[in-house]
Amino acid sequence: MLAITRYLPLAVALALAVPVSASETAASRTRVPVYTADGELVLPSDYREWVFLSAGLGMSYSEKAPAGEPTFDNTFVDPESYREFVRTGTWPDKTQIVLEMRDSTSRGSINRHGYYQRGGAQDVEVHVKDTARFSGWAFFGFDGKTSAKRIPQSAPCYACHAAHGAVDTTFVQFYPTLLPLARQHATLSAAFLEDEGRTIK
Ligand code: HEC
Repeated sequence: MLAITRYLPLAVALALAVPVSASETAASRTRVPVYTADGELVLPSDYREWVFLSAGLGMSYSEKAPAGEPTFDNTFVDPESYREFVRTGTWPDKTQIVLEMRDSTSRGSINRHGYYQRGGAQDVEVHVKDTARFSGWAFFGFDGKTSAKRIPQSAPCYACHAAHGAVDTTFVQFYPTLLPLARQHATLSAAFLEDEGRTIK
């Protein structure tokens, strides 16, 4: 009895803390996508300080192996959306995910095996969830620029992401810290579960 009384204030504090922190998440969103006056998305200049999701090396959608040294891709998400994903297993409105491509090399300095990333970003693409503006997600390719027009919905980006993305048209199956969270929250897309079934067979 004594023990329960002693811990009661802590239990009350925890019970109060849960709804407060949940409502804070929605109300205190500080980062939203920024657009120019003519509707181009501005590339977030600090995306390298965001949450790192994963790197792919030489990934390709075509059966034929690409020639030359493999390209690295690095994926970053804005920290507020990352925290929402951890809480819910899916992406909130205003999520921005950046995919950055860099050349690789093998020989340099003391390195003799394996690959490391070399030089500046070759290209940067962004996937943005902005329901009011696009009634869902939109893609942008920056190609060295600091702002970019939306890639038209007829581009193959949209069809492949919708047909194979594990969560809400994003490739969570390639982001190893997020995939278990999506399983736990049961937010995996039917398309992905079907792909996965085929892979296992
Ligand atoms: C044939 C399938 C396919 C097509 C077409 C495709 N992607 Fe992707 N995309 C992927 C895969 C697979 C990943 C995750 C793996 C990786 O590269 O790290 C990905 C990841 C991304 C990401 C990181 C965020 C996310 O949604 O997971 C962005 C941004 C992105 N692609 C942009 C584009 C753009 C822009 C186009 C069109 C110009 C495009 N993609 C076309 C398969 C595709």
